[in-house]
Amino acid sequence: MNDIIVGVSGSVAAYKAVEIVRKLNKKENNVIVVMTKAATKFVSALTFQTVSNNSVFTPRHFFEGVHSKQKDEQISLHISLAQRASLILLVPATANIIAKIANGICDDLLTNVVIATKAKLLIAPAMNENMYTNSIVQENIERLKKRGCKIISPVIGDLTCGKQGMGHLASVKTIVEAVLNH
Ligand SMILES: Cc1cc2nc3c(=O)[nH]c(=O)nc-3n(C[C@H](O)[C@H](O)[C@H](O)COP(=O)(O)O)c2cc1C
Repeated sequence: MNDIIVGVSGSVAAYKAVEIVRKLNKKENNVIVVMTKAATKFVSALTFQTVSNNSVFTPRHFFEGVHSKQKDEQISLHISLAQRASLILLVPATANIIAKIANGICDDLLTNVVIATKAKLLIAPAMNENMYTNSIVQENIERLKKRGCKIISPVIGDLTCGKQGMGHLASVKTIVEAVLNH
């Protein structure tokens, strides 16, 4: 069974991550959800806990140690999660988390898991068109691509501002298939 970590950050599109977790969980994967603080404003941890049948981790868990039975030693939660992940999917990925990961900033549980892992990183951005086309965001995305991350590009669609534009999260189907192809 594969351990897939789904990192959810603070976008309205976070509700779509619920369906993605549900679909991945059906496919013999062990899905572990890690949420940013902002993500918890959009969807509750309880919802992800229910669809993943697993504990959900939020920033408040960051400083809690975990016991590794195999090695009989204490290791930090972020190292433990980083080691067990066979793949990490960031969905939806905000401009903020993309910037942090592209620049090695690790100031919460999710960003520490990402920097500590050797697992493949898939990133599905979702944001307003002006945010997505901002050259800083594009430079950060290019930087992540060069480092081997797979970007699941957003599409043109409805945006939170009420307009249509680029930055709408890729479809649930596209994202699930991208994960299963890895
Ligand atoms: C209603 C609302 C919707 C938002 N939607 C997005 C979004 O789709 N994409 C994005 O990059 N930021 C969005 N933001 C801004 C992020 O929530 C904000 O940058 C936050 O600091 C992200 O933190 P995180 O990356 O740690 O989750 C939204 C904010 C609000 C209040």
